[in-house]
Amino acid sequence: MDNWTTSADTISQEAIEKYRRTGFLRVRGIVTPEEAAEFRQAAEELMGRLQERNPDSTTFRQFVNVWTQSEVLKKLTLHSNLKSVAAKLAGVKLRLWHDHLLVKEPKVSTPTEFHQDQPYWPHANSTHSLSCWVALNDVPVERGCMTFIPGSHRYTDLMAQNLKSSTSLFELAPDLAWDERVTLPLKAGDCTFHHGRTAHMANQNVTDEHRFGMAIIYIDASTTYTGAKHEVIEGDGIKVGHLIEGRHFPLVT
Ligand code: SIN
Ligand code: NI
Repeated sequence: MDNWTTSADTISQEAIEKYRRTGFLRVRGIVTPEEAAEFRQAAEELMGRLQERNPDSTTFRQFVNVWTQSEVLKKLTLHSNLKSVAAKLAGVKLRLWHDHLLVKEPKVSTPTEFHQDQPYWPHANSTHSLSCWVALNDVPVERGCMTFIPGSHRYTDLMAQNLKSSTSLFELAPDLAWDERVTLPLKAGDCTFHHGRTAHMANQNVTDEHRFGMAIIYIDASTTYTGAKHEVIEGDGIKVGHLIEGRHFPLVT
């Protein structure tokens, strides 16, 4: 049982259609519990030595592009189950945009409020971006699992929302406040996939244990650079209007 995982060969057509309709999907066992434990250990080790982004934030501790810093976490970011399922869901050729380790501290964390991811990114000519958020330990509701608004990926032109504000998204799209919300607890090794425009949030962590989530973000291989400032593309020499490509943005499918 422990060695059973979900891959592109076992994901059902029904699941793919559900993802396309709602903009998100929970997948059980994208990696085994043993793999999740190995990745969690590597994440803990890395937190002690890597500079975090926005260190004063209580939303989560964020470590970006850990695949370039840890051989163990590189196995997760480039894991064939993750990328092959992502490719099936998106239905387009994908490359890596970046990964990030997202750790909510026990008791002191605050919620990650509702937002869409895509408006934060300097992407043009993209038909599809999506994230795979993998639980490296059990993430029940009270440890900060995610909640999604089905169908919210239809909002394709909203400005970036403030993920520290509980009202930011709903000021821009008031109808979404009245939509159904789906909360998805995860066991270690499970994941959720969400489209870059699907509205999502995560609860605060009120438990005694850290919440370890690792998100791997994929973009359509045809995505070009808008020129807007973003830390993961600085120093890569990519010109405005050109393909986002190169060693930090490998094709994954
Ligand atoms: C979180 O892990 O708290 C939020 C993840 C996301 O916004 O994609
Ligand atoms: Ni997000």
